Amino acid sequence: MKLLAHSVFLLLLMLCTNASDEQVYIVTLHGSPAIHKFSGNGGSPRARARLFTTRSATVAYTAELVARHDNLLSGIFTSSSYKKLYSYSHVLNGFAVQLTSKQADALRSLPGVRRLEKDCRVVKLTTHTPEFLGLSTGAWPREGGPTNAGEGVVIGIIDTGIDPTHPSFSVKGSVAYPPLEDFHGKCEENGGSPGFSCNGKIIAAQHFAAAAQAAGAFNSSNDFASPLDGDGHGSHTASIAAGNHGVFVSNDGFYFGEASGMAPRARISVYKALYRQFGGFMSDVVAAIDQAAKDGVDVLSLSVGPSSPPSSSRVTYLNAFDVALLSAVKAGVFVVQAAGNGGPYPRTMASFSPWIMSVAAGLDDRNYSNSIYLGNGAKLTGAGLAPATPGDQMYNLVLAEDALANTSGFSFSPSNCQQPGVLNKTLIQGKILLCTYSFSFIYGASTVKRVSDTAKNLGAVGFVLLAKTDLPGNKFNPVPLGMPGIVITNVQDSLFLLDYYNASNGGSDAWAKIGNGMNPTFQGTAPQVALYSSRGPGVKDYTLQDSDILKPNILGPGSLIWGAWSPIGTDEPDFQGEHFAMMSGTSMATPHIAGVAALIRQAHPDWSPAAIASAMMTTALVTDNKGQPLLAQHYSSSGGVDLIQATPFDFGSGAINATAALDPGLVFDAKYEDYISFLCSVTQTDHTQVMNVTGSSCGVKGTSTSALNTPSITLSSLVASRSVTRSVTNVAGVAETYILSYVEPPGISMQVSPQSFPIEAGKSVAFSVGFKVAAPITGEYSFGSLVLRGDKGHLVRIPLAIRAAAR
Ligand SMILES: *[C@@H]1O[C@H](CO)[C@@H](O)[C@H](O)[C@H]1NC(C)=O
Ligand SMILES: *[C@@H]1O[C@H](CO)[C@@H](O)[C@H](O)[C@H]1NC(C)=O
Ligand SMILES: *[C@@H]1O[C@H](CO)[C@@H](O)[C@H](O)[C@H]1NC(C)=O
Ligand SMILES: *[C@@H]1O[C@H](CO)[C@@H](O)[C@H](O)[C@H]1NC(C)=O
Ligand SMILES: *[C@@H]1O[C@H](CO)[C@@H](O)[C@H](O)[C@H]1NC(C)=O
Ligand SMILES: *[C@@H]1O[C@H](CO)[C@@H](O)[C@H](O)[C@H]1NC(C)=O
Ligand SMILES: *[C@@H]1O[C@H](CO)[C@@H](O)[C@H](O)[C@H]1NC(C)=O
Repeated sequence: MKLLAHSVFLLLLMLCTNASDEQVYIVTLHGSPAIHKFSGNGGSPRARARLFTTRSATVAYTAELVARHDNLLSGIFTSSSYKKLYSYSHVLNGFAVQLTSKQADALRSLPGVRRLEKDCRVVKLTTHTPEFLGLSTGAWPREGGPTNAGEGVVIGIIDTGIDPTHPSFSVKGSVAYPPLEDFHGKCEENGGSPGFSCNGKIIAAQHFAAAAQAAGAFNSSNDFASPLDGDGHGSHTASIAAGNHGVFVSNDGFYFGEASGMAPRARISVYKALYRQFGGFMSDVVAAIDQAAKDGVDVLSLSVGPSSPPSSSRVTYLNAFDVALLSAVKAGVFVVQAAGNGGPYPRTMASFSPWIMSVAAGLDDRNYSNSIYLGNGAKLTGAGLAPATPGDQMYNLVLAEDALANTSGFSFSPSNCQQPGVLNKTLIQGKILLCTYSFSFIYGASTVKRVSDTAKNLGAVGFVLLAKTDLPGNKFNPVPLGMPGIVITNVQDSLFLLDYYNASNGGSDAWAKIGNGMNPTFQGTAPQVALYSSRGPGVKDYTLQDSDILKPNILGPGSLIWGAWSPIGTDEPDFQGEHFAMMSGTSMATPHIAGVAALIRQAHPDWSPAAIASAMMTTALVTDNKGQPLLAQHYSSSGGVDLIQATPFDFGSGAINATAALDPGLVFDAKYEDYISFLCSVTQTDHTQVMNVTGSSCGVKGTSTSALNTPSITLSSLVASRSVTRSVTNVAGVAETYILSYVEPPGISMQVSPQSFPIEAGKSVAFSVGFKVAAPITGEYSFGSLVLRGDKGHLVRIPLAIRAAAR
């Protein structure tokens, strides 16, 4: 029950340090990687995987690239003076190598070498949802029910590994998973202890740790040189995307209903590249992407990303990570990435490129709260997830400070109730212990689980954790507590309780009982954008210049999500030893979208990644369950949490509607060449840089970044007027006539042409949208929308974010 902002994990924080002179570099060479050499656009990732593994020319080509890498290195360095960690041959032509800075300079000047990027240290920072998303009655029945939803689709998860013995991934009792034709992922079986094995549902699993090992960060007895999850995060995200249907969730002996992945029949391919204590390294993550693209995954889910725009390239889109993902998209892989947990401040996105679906996190309609009833008749509410105190009677209260024992030699403040030894059992037994929530719960080692353990150890019947001062971000994530307990998060309520205690004969006449907090409440307005979810606008370089690409792209459920946990997982002390955990973060929102993408791929195997993204975005919801415009959590001036009307910079196109996404009517499609044109039009990019990084040349025709055919229009700097073109493709299978309408962003006047059009099945139609500054310039963005309404009932909506500028 740490502060939300801190129990959200995500985030590979990029720290490109070079403590010693030896350093790992990601080196890119001239010459195409295999994906660029052998495949055009379209088609399934698996058809490509077949190409890469069975066609002799491709097999020979990748072998030749690897030989070239080795020859290049052995040609200038003695074999003992460097260490190659990986050859990348599918999504990048290059390698990761450990070198001294002098060697790096020598390598950089060799012909054939395009670029050296220092490897980045990546540090980890952090289910009722199928019903909430309408899957049970919407998308699943269309795909043959939960026992078939996701069949034949592979979701690749780059994370901390997986617990293969978990019921969320078990094949016991389910129809056997036959091998998937043309899927080529390997399973790294490991005979050691603890062992690892795949089972058909977990179709493949590998780990990538060469850079972690080279840096001396990897400890095999702790981090496991296998795909086994020693952390918990990877099992949690995998279960959200593709965990089995109807798995009983229990924690600390209590039952919390059933959990299910979004695509319960999808197969999972595990790429472990993040580790317990130290997080991971970018070159290991790139190796995981290279392998996933080669294997032929349909969807790649990344609950990881940098905490700030990487400075390895001036343009955010051209670092090795984003470029590797662009190649994967070219191969047909749908890529989903967490938006980041840097909210609610603007320009905090950790995901940048238009070929990536960036996911913001929302709160859904479930909440756990609890009440405490005082002897004076007052009732206070707080965060719970704990059983009630026994019987109907009241129990005596005792403040931790009034029950001290031997306090010498203890590291925690006794009032935080972290260690039983500091407190006097005789004075606490049979009573409700009052403890204080302080800063050390946020930045120190204090946990609510330890409060619970301390109270239990001292024989208390329950505990209350009081927030006596308003700490920054004072928002609790309720974790299951092993005994009656409540966290009073409201400062006034906490002080009220303390007053009552003081006024009741120094506590000896203070009484209370704690209510039952085990049952969730399903009320309130939902979804809402969570406080921690990173906000747009997207940025195009590390000086945080705004881009013309809408970020984030979509809102998925991310708060208080139950999912599988590895009992040996150490990520969250509150869940150590458990098989399930309730977590929050854009890390949790991302696999929801990955799972829905798998359902779309199952229904429409020939759709491109851009078409899948478009289907989810144009059908997303911009109103909540009360029919009102979506709200976003922000800080109020007093430091509390306020709800204000959300914008596309909070939720992108809106909240996912999985049912509608299966039948969008129209899609805004884009191909690899369109992304290259986009890169060529980014003003800071010179064309040789695009050539150097992607191997594609720019041509002469200048375009504008807003010309990329995205299902949104963002103009970060509209001077006077501009016209933007978009093209839609009819994927409904029948001809339909669409009428265009729009809501003008305040201060902007608009025109569309044509105002309506018929469109044949499978055909594309272009339309133009004109924007004109129509009010004094404020420097602020204003937001509108454009809607295409079809006569067969399809409704296609795209958000508009426009900022007028003087020049
Ligand atoms: C590796 O982890 C084990 C188990 O936690 C620990 O005993 C050992 O000291 C660690 N080794 C290093 C080099 O940190
Ligand atoms: C959930 O419950 C807590 C504790 O009662 C309360 O402070 C919070 O506002 C509730 N959240 C929502 C979204 O209803
Ligand atoms: C605990 O409290 C009891 C009752 O007041 C007292 O007799 C005892 O000495 C205390 N023990 C310690 C270790 O302070
Ligand atoms: C108090 O605790 C310290 C550290 O655990 C211990 O060294 C000391 O002997 C204890 N004193 C008493 C009176 O129990
Ligand atoms: C209650 O009494 C204690 C000790 O007498 C004092 O430190 C504390 O400030 C009082 N609390 C309130 C809320 O009055
Ligand atoms: C989601 O889309 C479906 C199909 O278009 C629609 O029936 C349903 O009402 C939508 N859900 C919500 C919550 O609006
Ligand atoms: C592109 O590569 C060439 C040859 O390696 C190099 O001279 C040039 O500086 C690079 N350009 C950029 C923008 O990185």
